[in-house]
Amino acid sequence: MKILVTGAAGFIGSNFVYYMLRKHPEAEIVALDALTYAGDLETLAPLKDEPRFLFVRGNICDRNTVFGLLGDTGCDIVVNFAAESHVDRSIEDPSIFVESNVLGVQVLLDACREYGVERFHQVSTDEVYGDLPLDRPDLFFTEQTPLNPSSPYSATKASADLLARAYYRTFGLPVTISRCSNNYGPYQFPEKLIPLTIANALADRPVGVYGQGINVRDWLYVGDHCSAIDRILEDGRPGEVYNVGGHNEKTNLEIVRTILRELGKPESLITFVTDRAGHDLRYAIDPSTMGEQLGWEPHTDFEDGIRETIAWYRDNGTWWHNILDGSYRDFNESMFRGR
Ligand code: NAD
Ligand code: DAU
Repeated sequence: MKILVTGAAGFIGSNFVYYMLRKHPEAEIVALDALTYAGDLETLAPLKDEPRFLFVRGNICDRNTVFGLLGDTGCDIVVNFAAESHVDRSIEDPSIFVESNVLGVQVLLDACREYGVERFHQVSTDEVYGDLPLDRPDLFFTEQTPLNPSSPYSATKASADLLARAYYRTFGLPVTISRCSNNYGPYQFPEKLIPLTIANALADRPVGVYGQGINVRDWLYVGDHCSAIDRILEDGRPGEVYNVGGHNEKTNLEIVRTILRELGKPESLITFVTDRAGHDLRYAIDPSTMGEQLGWEPHTDFEDGIRETIAWYRDNGTWWHNILDGSYRDFNESMFRGR
């Protein structure tokens, strides 16, 4: 099994690389990442001398790079994590989201067709479904829920899903799609709610909560997302969409309070700030297809996972300090100097 993992220097992609190398001793991984602001090679530094791992800096929008890489390496599986992933940035400037999240996916799909890969897996998101009302806890996103994205980010992710499905229907490309809920765990870029709150709380800085903090997200430990993708690669049906989640709905205020309590910091750090434009109210995934068809279930209990995650950020301050002070960019560049 030789897998091209795009976006491997980001949060979930890097966790997936470690997961697959650990779980499948025969697996080889070729990692492609443009090292945008969200890519950090320090995350993958322990794999520098790993013979089953190769890192290539490159953009999924670049046809020559992607076609050349697939042709040279002969990867039989492509898993696409590469994307602009932050909703707030997509509200500031949607254009790079269309490039990477839509046009980049088209390049990957074309290259997969050209080289006859056995599987293209698109890592999508529950945000493609839009949101659910706060007063209807009985409602969940199923794979049949119509696409109704709210933000430029989620609109580009929904577009990519449509393209991927069209390549399955029209060209018979063996495509699978997973739509996962909010992930948490090690190596998440400290602009997202959980790592940002931890970083601010540890520095006794105000912790920003959008609006009233009543929006609900459905949290899943990143390792459980990785195991779900692994199961889909093994036994998922081409053309299918799989919802991935673990029924862990929490309001943002609950999340922030949990972090403050765990770190022994006062709730007076909570600062309510202007709400996100178009802010989705509630996400909640029905993951029953993953269970019934693939026998998958999440293993990390939210209480354990969040405690371990908080401890990880407390114990690995250098990792996120290097991001906050920008020195991770120097590290990224130093790895390519002279090449
Ligand atoms: P991230 O922002 O941490 O990482 C994205 C990675 O992709 C970075 O390393 C970046 O350098 C790379 N990248 C961006 N544009 C690229 C391009 N054009 N070419 C090559 N590399 C590029 O994101 P993440 O949170 O790890 O999310 C990974 C994927 O999972 C995304 O597709 C996202 O939509 C999806 N997803 C995320 C979550 C979540 O909670 N974080 C949940 C469900 C789905
Ligand atoms: O649902 C899956 C999605 O989860 C992924 O597709 C996205 O890539 C990922 O970034 C995440 O999107 P969210 O917008 O839900 O994540 P974020 O961490 O940015 O925000 C989580 C919630 O917390 C959201 O309701 C906004 C709120 N928030 C966020 C930040 C950064 C705050 O209240 N304060 C903050 O400082």
